[in-house]
Amino acid sequence: MNPGFELLHADDTLLVVVKPAGLLAVPGRGEDKADCLWARVAAVHPDALIVHRLDMAASGLMLFARGVEAQRALSQAFEQRRVGKRYEAVVCGIVEGAQGEVDLPLGADWPNRPRQQVDFAHGKPSLTRWQRMSVDAQTGTTRLALEPVTGRSHSCACTWRTSATRSSATRSTRRRSRRRACCCTRRRWNCGILAAAKRSPSPALHRSDHDPMREDVDLPKAYKLLNHGPTVIVSAAHGGRRNAMAAAWSVPLEFEPARIAVVLDKSTFTRTLVEASGEFALSVPCRAFADATYTLGTTSGHQIADKLAHFGLATFAGRHVAAPLLEGCVAWLECRLVREPHAQQAYDIFVGEVLAASADPRAFSQGRWHFGAAADPLRTIHHVGGGHFLLSGEGVQAAMLKPV
Ligand SMILES: Cc1cc2nc3c(=O)[nH]c(=O)nc-3n(C[C@H](O)[C@H](O)[C@H](O)COP(=O)(O)O)c2cc1C
Repeated sequence: MNPGFELLHADDTLLVVVKPAGLLAVPGRGEDKADCLWARVAAVHPDALIVHRLDMAASGLMLFARGVEAQRALSQAFEQRRVGKRYEAVVCGIVEGAQGEVDLPLGADWPNRPRQQVDFAHGKPSLTRWQRMSVDAQTGTTRLALEPVTGRSHSCACTWRTSATRSSATRSTRRRSRRRACCCTRRRWNCGILAAAKRSPSPALHRSDHDPMREDVDLPKAYKLLNHGPTVIVSAAHGGRRNAMAAAWSVPLEFEPARIAVVLDKSTFTRTLVEASGEFALSVPCRAFADATYTLGTTSGHQIADKLAHFGLATFAGRHVAAPLLEGCVAWLECRLVREPHAQQAYDIFVGEVLAASADPRAFSQGRWHFGAAADPLRTIHHVGGGHFLLSGEGVQAAMLKPV
């Protein structure tokens, strides 16, 4: 039977498989996105584990580790940049020069994670070397070899898309490049990778014990399993500036003193205000506030002097902090920053001691949330990606199990 993939290499620790363009590397969301290269490979080699991915549109070689030991070794090799990567891309326009480098800072495109964008203010340095392989004057395209030098999640497509608009190509080329830069990419691996993965033999596989009700989740997506807690809006004020941003990553830490934590990326303007003022507020948005939340999460105080005024969002004053609280939300927490320099620097975690908390009694009373039909517009919103939210839903009363 045709397994639906082309296997180039197999040994005890590693599989090298050809990924055709148009096939997902790993499963996407929804049943229609279940077919992917990994699923096909795992059907034949149940110990195949994911160590990297390729964009759906890209063709190339994908490596699968066989067993967790090999996966660890390969992941480390990627992490420590011991893996050489080479892409080939056909780009619109005639690229002048034989080779060069594109040095553009890339940062997360938060609402569309794991996508990236060029971010001159806060992106990480990302160096791509390119070499012109051939030019097709008839179609007006250039085939390039691209080598990402920095960063594990470095996106060549993103780098080239932007650099094309800044390159020395002709005007019309530039216009076309902007429209459709990386038409097609292929990834090739340096042979060194084969050595990197060859360590110990594969241990027994524990990939969900083949239970159809349990599917492994790719580790970079593991956060999503916990991430449908309510999205919050973090606000802060200092030195005549005020600002607010969306944050999906927040967590309660302690009952007494009441403490919470929120992740504030180094690129955010809100973070600078929190650090400077030593305080912040959380407003918990609801269904009716989804658009405002998304807007605050996709625009920055680095570019807009007062985002709240700019988008006509009303605020009210807190009792303990200067940070503005947002009208139209359903709960509010005023916090004093508990300075944890290491956690802030290493993990972007900001711990807050809650000085005051309040909630809309239509949705929260007697110490718990109530989301009946009447409170529908007040349901809290839970980000699942790309500006899409789930609403908090039906309640269920649990009862104690009886010992068997
Ligand atoms: C739904 C959603 C959730 C987000 N969650 C976080 C988060 O938990 N931490 C973070 O640093 N940025 C998060 N962001 C991105 C920031 O809100 C975004 O970078 C914002 O533009 C920062 O604004 P500022 O620069 O004005 O502070 C999220 C964005 C959206 C849309």
